[in-house]
Amino acid sequence: MSEYRIETKCVQGGYTPGNGEPRQIPIYQSTTFKYDTSEHMGQLFDLEASGYFYSRLQNPTCDLVAAKIAALEGGTAAMLTSSGQAANFYAVFNVANCGDHVVASSTIYGGTFNLFSVTMKKMGIDFTFVAPDCTEEELAAAFKPNTKAVFGETIANPALSVLDIERFANAAHAHGVPLIIDNTFATPINCRPIEWGADIVTHSTTKYMDGHGAAVGGCIVDSGNFDWLAHADKFPGLCTPDDSYHGITYAEKFGQGGAFITKATAQLMRDFGSTQSPQSAFLLNLGLESLHVRIPRHCENGLAVAKYLKNHDLISYVIYPGLE
Ligand SMILES: Cc1ncc(COP(=O)(O)O)c(C=O)c1O
Repeated sequence: MSEYRIETKCVQGGYTPGNGEPRQIPIYQSTTFKYDTSEHMGQLFDLEASGYFYSRLQNPTCDLVAAKIAALEGGTAAMLTSSGQAANFYAVFNVANCGDHVVASSTIYGGTFNLFSVTMKKMGIDFTFVAPDCTEEELAAAFKPNTKAVFGETIANPALSVLDIERFANAAHAHGVPLIIDNTFATPINCRPIEWGADIVTHSTTKYMDGHGAAVGGCIVDSGNFDWLAHADKFPGLCTPDDSYHGITYAEKFGQGGAFITKATAQLMRDFGSTQSPQSAFLLNLGLESLHVRIPRHCENGLAVAKYLKNHDLISYVIYPGLE
């Protein structure tokens, strides 16, 4: 799929039906999946075999739609979540635990700001917020020895400031941590943060991806570019055995391209259960099919409104990234 244009990926990505199979992604409306032997089930539970056993962890409809978003963003693996809030919480909590620290852009969506500065703070995770246009010195000064990630939004909601992803990625990588980018507002039609150095990309699919106001949802995509084992001391959750999962070491067993999403699924989705329903995933996929047509129109419309307001006597200022 990587050689296809983004328009084709919107329609065809993630799902390649065989001869006589449904053209549209089927809704697997099932909590559980059947196996002939308990040995086979045991292998699935132990992550020794791949397959589905319980939809709180994984469901085929959700996985096919996640694979489409991974193709759109240029990532190696992805998972759907019940909301954008769940996606951002999982993305950060997958690498930062009690006693850790995260650097975040100060203009992020208010719900995410609250999640970080109030709720995750209660969990013992400390955040330093920096202005997206801060100086190199201010950005460097925000890092601490226990910093585990940098977080920002491509286009901030509602400030509409555009993040210099490359600059934030360079700073994150210089400190041995990944850059997590919430790409909700831009969508992969306007910007693919992985191409600018982001390691993890999140979405509130509730917005443009769904596009019809039909289903709340979220998504996390891993670029597969961050070398967890090269920074093993910072990321014990990925680089040392997980006692709650039969001693699996995610970075070793699933490699650079699979460790992050496998851990988030096997550990966080198992324990917090913010899964997306297959019905919602089906609706999300319908939205994704027309994303490449809708987004240019949204931008055209937004620009027309912004230009009109900018020339209006009663308007003192207009913020729109498309204005000259
Ligand atoms: C940029 C951004 N990220 C995350 C969220 C949270 O997403 P959800 O409402 O799907 O939980 C929102 C919601 O407005 C958002 O705008």
